[in-house]
Amino acid sequence: MLNKLMRKKNVATNKLLDEEVANVKSKKIPAHVAIIMDGNGRWAKKRNLPRVAGHHEGMKTVREIARIANRLGVKVLTLYAFSTENWKRPKLEVDFLMRLPGEFLSTYLTELIEENVRVEMIGDLSLLPNHTKKAIQKAIEATKENDGMVLNFAMNYGSRSEIVRCTQELVKKAAKGEIHWEDINEEVINTHLMTAHLPEPDLLIRTSGEVRLSNFMLWQLAYAEFSFTDVLWPDFDGHCLVKEIKEFQSRNRRFGSVEGEE
Ligand code: IPE
Ligand code: IPE
Ligand code: MG
Repeated sequence: MLNKLMRKKNVATNKLLDEEVANVKSKKIPAHVAIIMDGNGRWAKKRNLPRVAGHHEGMKTVREIARIANRLGVKVLTLYAFSTENWKRPKLEVDFLMRLPGEFLSTYLTELIEENVRVEMIGDLSLLPNHTKKAIQKAIEATKENDGMVLNFAMNYGSRSEIVRCTQELVKKAAKGEIHWEDINEEVINTHLMTAHLPEPDLLIRTSGEVRLSNFMLWQLAYAEFSFTDVLWPDFDGHCLVKEIKEFQSRNRRFGSVEGEE
């Protein structure tokens, strides 16, 4: 009986989500959505669970949000999964976080392939444990021919370290005479960042009520629309994403110009 009721409720919720998706799809969808997935620890604490239980639950949200973003027609979904500062956390938590890509991809890789999603990564892969690196590389390789949504994980990513790396590369090129200092412009910098091949984010969402960037895409977010929601990442669902997209659609992006002259 309870099962039957729950199934009925699920069908109704799915129908509602289908309608919401169809509704926002009639207007402009942000090509690149970037999300700072925050609040896993607080989600777990509220339930007297260990922090890692929140990370595990958050992994399910990743799947749900990737699916809905894909259905909405988002071209790139960048998810901040581990920052260069997150190494400061207790070793047990870091170890758990490093195992999540493997678990996520072994559970959902087939589905991602079916949905034509291309997995990519930004961040310094070289410092990740071998098993994490292998899982990510396998997913990148297995989905590289897919031409649907790019699911871009920011893993061991830090914007400042990315900018340092870009500067080092440019100085090296200049020293070798491959580039002249006067030719360094915004476009050249763009092409030396880890996001070189991606459009810049149109919409940044941070969950959990924190209002900061925590070293995320400082350069790339220069003209993104920001949205900060109190919802904790494990509770963030398709309806929340649709709501964020709706809010985005109501913004007036001027890019320094005057109203209506985009
Ligand atoms: C986000 O959740 C996940 C990572 C940063 C890896 P947190 O673990 O930061 O959760 P809170 O902020 O402690 O609630
Ligand atoms: C930012 O969240 C990093 C990720 C979501 C991966 P944090 O929870 O690490 O950020 P701070 O420490 O609260 O700024
Ligand atoms: Mg946090």
